[in-house]
Amino acid sequence: MGFKSLYIIGVIFSLFVSSFGQSFENNSSRDSLDALLQDYAFKSLARPHTGALYKASLPANLSGMEASVVRLRSGSFWTRGANFSSFHIPPRVMPIPYVRRLAIVYQNLGNWSSYYYNVPGYSLVSPVVGFMAYDASNLSVNGITKTNLSVTGDPISVHFPHVLLPEGSNLTTRCVTFSVGGSVFFSELTLPNVCHTRNPGHFSIVVHLKKKEERLWKWWVIGFGFGFVGLVLVGLVVTVLVKFAKMKKIKKMEEKADEGEAFKTIWIGRSKMPSAIVTRTQPALENGYDP
Ligand SMILES: *[C@@H]1O[C@H](CO)[C@@H](O)[C@H](O)[C@H]1NC(C)=O
Ligand SMILES: *[C@@H]1O[C@H](CO)[C@@H](O)[C@H](O)[C@H]1NC(C)=O
Ligand SMILES: *[C@@H]1O[C@H](CO)[C@@H](O)[C@H](O)[C@H]1NC(C)=O
Ligand SMILES: *[C@@H]1O[C@H](CO)[C@@H](O)[C@H](O)[C@H]1NC(C)=O
Ligand SMILES: *[C@@H]1O[C@H](CO)[C@@H](O)[C@H](O)[C@H]1NC(C)=O
Repeated sequence: MGFKSLYIIGVIFSLFVSSFGQSFENNSSRDSLDALLQDYAFKSLARPHTGALYKASLPANLSGMEASVVRLRSGSFWTRGANFSSFHIPPRVMPIPYVRRLAIVYQNLGNWSSYYYNVPGYSLVSPVVGFMAYDASNLSVNGITKTNLSVTGDPISVHFPHVLLPEGSNLTTRCVTFSVGGSVFFSELTLPNVCHTRNPGHFSIVVHLKKKEERLWKWWVIGFGFGFVGLVLVGLVVTVLVKFAKMKKIKKMEEKADEGEAFKTIWIGRSKMPSAIVTRTQPALENGYDP
């Protein structure tokens, strides 16, 4: 039935929009926040001393976040690594493609973390921290371009200063990585507050919201159950109504036909029979009287 399939398509479409709409929205706001923090960080690099960390001065509407930047020669970065902010980058890491100097921008989203980053079914229990590597060999010519990192030795470790576990819970914590491309990965913590990575990106610690998810799942089942029963009921009612209407129509037609026939016979009887009777009896009577 056309109505049924339309209804089902509508339901599926609204589910699709409600589940994916949010993540698309978040991606674009994340990207623009990234670009904003990167710009403020590079502004603080006006006359940089190589190897010194510069804190970006952020506008009031970003208060609660932190961004900082360091410019390094790739040679010393390779031999010494970089130990700034929440990230310990060990030796034997190289920018890809190779550049003579690189800049690393660090972010801590603080109380804004869950505003920009969320994982369905999980709760953030630490601020989101992030780092990006840039080609800084000639900023005036190349502009601000990102580079990848090739980690040939130990991985980069991410140290979270605050991990706020819900009270009295023995929930297991996991590391979550929001990669530059937009995908999300989970990994195990190596220490209660340390995660590992081999790529730039954003990182946090999460706990699984088992109860909430179960509740949500229950609601889904109930919703689908009601939806299905509703659909079946609507289908039944529609078919019953259609059948009833058909039956009524047929009955009416039959009645009309009956009435018509009755009228016809009556009409025929009235018009034919009396005339016949009249024409026959009268002469008969006349004839009867006559003889
Ligand atoms: C974070 O804290 C700052 C003050 O430190 C406040 O201005 C800002 O509105 C807070 N952000 C959120 C999302 O609560
Ligand atoms: C990195 O710096 C922190 C302090 O900011 C220090 O406690 C830690 O030992 C340093 N790690 C290395 C490997 O230098
Ligand atoms: C960057 O490039 C410009 C233009 O090519 C040049 O004048 C300048 O010396 C370069 N700076 C560095 C640090 O290589
Ligand atoms: C970094 O690597 C990814 C694939 O691993 C690639 O898609 C991306 O273009 C690279 N970025 C740069 C700046 O080279
Ligand atoms: C948006 O983020 C989701 C994960 O939250 C990811 O799967 C998707 O590829 C991202 N899209 C873009 C255009 O970055």
